[in-house]
Amino acid sequence: MRTIILAAGKGTRMKSQLPKVLHKVCGKPILSYVLDLAKAIGSLKIYVVLGHQYDEVKKILSDDCIVVRQEKLLGTADAIKSVEKHFQFYYGDILILSGDAPLLQKATLKKIIERHRRTKAVCTFLTAVVHEPKGYGRVLRGDNQKVYAIREEKDAIGFEKDVAEINVGVYCMQAKELFKTLKQVRLNNKKKEFYLTDLIELFYNKRMRIETVKVSDAQEGLGINTRMDLAVAENVLRQRILKDLMLSGVTIVDPLTTYIHSDVKIGQDTIIRPCTFIENNVRIGKKCLIGPCARFRPGTRIANNVEIGNFTEVNASKLGSGVFMKHFSYLGDATVGKNANIGAGVVTANFDGKKKNFTKIGDHAFVGSDSILVAPISIGKKAVTGAGSVVTRNKNVPDYAVAVGVPAKIISKRTNL
Ligand code: UD1
Ligand code: CA
Repeated sequence: MRTIILAAGKGTRMKSQLPKVLHKVCGKPILSYVLDLAKAIGSLKIYVVLGHQYDEVKKILSDDCIVVRQEKLLGTADAIKSVEKHFQFYYGDILILSGDAPLLQKATLKKIIERHRRTKAVCTFLTAVVHEPKGYGRVLRGDNQKVYAIREEKDAIGFEKDVAEINVGVYCMQAKELFKTLKQVRLNNKKKEFYLTDLIELFYNKRMRIETVKVSDAQEGLGINTRMDLAVAENVLRQRILKDLMLSGVTIVDPLTTYIHSDVKIGQDTIIRPCTFIENNVRIGKKCLIGPCARFRPGTRIANNVEIGNFTEVNASKLGSGVFMKHFSYLGDATVGKNANIGAGVVTANFDGKKKNFTKIGDHAFVGSDSILVAPISIGKKAVTGAGSVVTRNKNVPDYAVAVGVPAKIISKRTNL
């Protein structure tokens, strides 16, 4: 199977400088979800049609995608025409996906491909029955329930507007017939675009077989056109991510106030308390207690049995097993050894105004409440900093040493071990 992803459009309704498909849902660009899906179903070749802000969008694509430029944004049919040259000697089926539909699931795509192959239809497309069909193409069926056309919003008249079954924008088509019939698509006068959806009526008139698959969950068909759609997609994906985590053995105390991005891994028996925000590329081990009100930023790695309490932020840091960090602290660009204690109010001052600097805290170190660690700095293993101390850059605290004051001075070695 070869896949074409349409992502050249302007996304006018987003009212944004950023191309629509680069807006993020649960931390990841909308288009990346569609790409991942195309890969997950085993597409041999993936063609991505780009146009508006071509260079910006191209940056997020992986090297194995074939990028095609749509010179003028003349509609979805024209977008498909722009890839035709790649299909000259191809006689198989093509799957067409919209770059703006991130909620689609693998099982649904498998269903549509399977139906298409079984029925040998010229075109099989995905439909959804929705409460608010406005803005979508309506699926028009005759008395025998056979589809005879897709009618776009602007052209819908009378009863057509009331049709609740909409075109999701996912199609499986026989390549040769697709490109042949595409030549007959005429410019739509209202929108001054060539509609891919006009193919349906053309196939129907040629008495060719058209099949449909209805999504079981209408939300899957959501195409993001506005910022409202973006918020709906965020919520649906967020609940999916939380559900998967819960089913894998993670306790989410309050799914309504927990925000976890799509690329996050959390170990069994970890408990996530309310109002916690975990961004992409974060890994959390087993049996950790997280939150309430904790924030984890990209690149963070938390080992097993770690406790991170309320009003805390961990950014691009590695925490060893058994670390305690229970109250209003910030760790950025830090490595913390196992069983270290990060007292209340500890802050790594990791940014000097120009660049980020690293902090290293050894195993079993005890960083006293309200310590400020000005990076680059290292606190040795089993070392102690006193409450309120300010450890200044490069004034490393050796193993077992006790440092206190502002700026912190080393006053003794720990003996009570
Ligand atoms: C399209 C369908 C509509 C369907 C809806 C589902 C058409 C004519 N209409 O409408 O039946 O209900 O999707 O969400 O196809 N694109 C290009 N080049 C262009 C225009 C668009 O690549 O010249 C891309 C867009 O980037 C987008 C996709 O095609 O990813 C769909 O375009 P969009 O303008 O969002 O179509 P809709 O009006 O939503
Ligand atoms: Ca759309």
